[in-house]
Amino acid sequence: MKEHTLILLLFLVISIAIMGLFLVIFQSSKIENETGMQNPKKKRFFFFIILASILLVLLSITIPKSPYFQYADNSPAKVVYIAAQQYVFLSSFQAITLDNINTEAIEVPANEVIEFRVTSLDVNHGFAIYNDKAELVTQTQAMPGYINKLRWKFTEPGKYNILCLEFCGGGHSFMRSSFTVK
Ligand code: CUA
Repeated sequence: MKEHTLILLLFLVISIAIMGLFLVIFQSSKIENETGMQNPKKKRFFFFIILASILLVLLSITIPKSPYFQYADNSPAKVVYIAAQQYVFLSSFQAITLDNINTEAIEVPANEVIEFRVTSLDVNHGFAIYNDKAELVTQTQAMPGYINKLRWKFTEPGKYNILCLEFCGGGHSFMRSSFTVK
């Protein structure tokens, strides 16, 4: 059986299970006598505690894996400035501002921490790095008035493409650039 057929089947089974569960809850919610639920406040409190505990566990597992903490203790080997603008990515080893618009070809070393300082000169854009297999490597937002720092270590040398991941106007789908990792 193909993988997508399996996924579809799994979805079907889960959907039926959820519908069944709803049906059971609906049936059981029919009032049999006038007394209603016993201790509703106590039950609601326990439900809240359970929900909060699950959320706390999930957050404590996932938040430390957030990319904002990645390579926080390393000092970057290279700093690359990125300024997004409808519909181009300016890239430079020097800061890019409206008074100092410049762009150059970027080449960074492999297996070293690279820091991208990403901003926008007009509207919100996305800054997404893709490898040569068109797989998303890492990404952040390019926002006017903010500099988002994105650190990454490229283990594979080659050409990397930069694509915009935020709908920013008519030319959004053509907004792309690239750089080299050696
Ligand atoms: Cu820039 Cu979409």
